[in-house]
Amino acid sequence: MKKVIVGGNWKMNKNVQEAQTLARQLCDRLSDVNFADIFICPPFVDLYPINIILREKESKIMLGAQNMHYEPKGAFTGEISADMIKSAGGKIVVLGHSERRHIFGEDDEYINKKVASALKNELIPLLCIGELLEERKAGKTEEVIESQLRGSLNGIEIDDPEKILIAYEPVWAIGTGITATPEQAQEAQKFVRKVLADMFGQSIADGIRILYGGSVKPDNAEALISQPEVDGLFVGGASLDAESFEKIVRATK
Ligand code: PGA
Repeated sequence: MKKVIVGGNWKMNKNVQEAQTLARQLCDRLSDVNFADIFICPPFVDLYPINIILREKESKIMLGAQNMHYEPKGAFTGEISADMIKSAGGKIVVLGHSERRHIFGEDDEYINKKVASALKNELIPLLCIGELLEERKAGKTEEVIESQLRGSLNGIEIDDPEKILIAYEPVWAIGTGITATPEQAQEAQKFVRKVLADMFGQSIADGIRILYGGSVKPDNAEALISQPEVDGLFVGGASLDAESFEKIVRATK
């Protein structure tokens, strides 16, 4: 049985002081939770100060970064490497988030290099995929999901399903308040697993945790996680408040 995993994507929110406050609140509120793995993805500058808090509080909450560059170092002004994330306490890195794809123009080929670099550096990539509203309306959801998975994971070898996470995040559900229905999430994630099985074999695919993301809130978390193919939740807006994130985590029990 896979353990449920719940993550918070803070996006470009919370300065260092605000981030420290939220991290302390989460450590206190979630200290008893052992039914789910929990991670938070704050902005880069917040990683190290939060790592200190997590260690002080002996918290099991894991840290993730929201992006990275695939090169180990060099003249890449404004970028950050896998090693830097690890040295600040990061264990997970979000790659290919729809905001990176659609606002910053990242494509599958570029994301693929980052996935390879994350794995090489023993960071867990959380690869995000998902279709636009037009694509869903045009009946292209599966085609889009499949090409994002095959493109972003091209040439990648996975010998242990715990080394990668996938988040299905339909773009039309992100930050819009419109959540995919539990059935839509189930259907899309079943297809994700089918493609993963074709790429990596059934047993690896069955072991990979696939998260749903897109307007996850305390009142829809339980229905989403109760779907057999939904192994976790990736939460944006509702992860910025300790009470609502705690409610979401507890709804997965
Ligand atoms: P949201 O964001 O929960 O605010 O819709 C989810 C995400 O972008 O990961």
